[in-house]
Amino acid sequence: MQVNPKLIKKHFEKSFDTYNKNAIVQKIMAEKLIENLSNIRTEFDNILELGSGTGLLTSDLVKKISFKKYFANDLIEKSKFYINKIIPDTVFYCGNAQRITPSQKMDLIISNAMFQWFENLEKVCINYKRFLKKDGILAFSTFSPENFKEIRNLTGLSLDYKSLEEIKNILKKEFEIVYTEEFSTTLKFSNPLELLAHIKKTGVNSLTTQYWTFKEVKNFCDRYKDQYPDIPLTYCPMIVICKKI
Ligand SMILES: C[S@@+](CC[C@H](N)C(=O)[O-])C[C@H]1O[C@@H](n2cnc3c(N)ncnc32)[C@H](O)[C@@H]1O
Repeated sequence: MQVNPKLIKKHFEKSFDTYNKNAIVQKIMAEKLIENLSNIRTEFDNILELGSGTGLLTSDLVKKISFKKYFANDLIEKSKFYINKIIPDTVFYCGNAQRITPSQKMDLIISNAMFQWFENLEKVCINYKRFLKKDGILAFSTFSPENFKEIRNLTGLSLDYKSLEEIKNILKKEFEIVYTEEFSTTLKFSNPLELLAHIKKTGVNSLTTQYWTFKEVKNFCDRYKDQYPDIPLTYCPMIVICKKI
């Protein structure tokens, strides 16, 4: 399913104050993305971060990567204040990352836990290639089709996640793929309501709780407990780093 950016914006905006404490897997993704990027290159002139949110990735990036100018983007205006606390003179582009046009060419375009929201990844990647300098790097993390499989199995709701093979096929026409990694992490909760609260606090409830009535929530919780007594929630992230050819 595709999610309307207005709904994504609404839910992430509400989760901003609780995001950093609860985004355990997104934090692991950010660390892996930066670790592997720093094995490839550590010095850049211009960096553009897409979907910068509360700066989870940005905080890790400044520890290992050096740069001259930082540009950041998010659908949510207040992301600017979070990023400016980490990198004071950041140029911030508020709006849909699929539509922004940066004022300068970039050496690195980076994004953590955001590309899964894109409607047309191929179009977006071709577009970002135009914003990269020669040998520029596109580095991102996203999720693969088994992500939140418990919720998909119970409700039929899932984003249109692409497999790593599909992503490689899209990218290989425009980029040299330098590094990829897939992993899986399962969080456990004491009950399904706690799991739903976790989803809300990390802003990804655009998928699950859009129009749920009390009865629907109860029904979901009963079925979750029945089918998954340990109350697991499986995250399946991937890391992709590629170079403009
Ligand atoms: C899961 S959070 C990740 C935040 C941050 N990158 C991190 O490392 O934790 C996703 C962020 O992407 C933003 N976002 C989602 N779709 C977007 C889009 N199309 N354009 C710009 N930002 C978007 C959301 O507002 C949210 O702040």
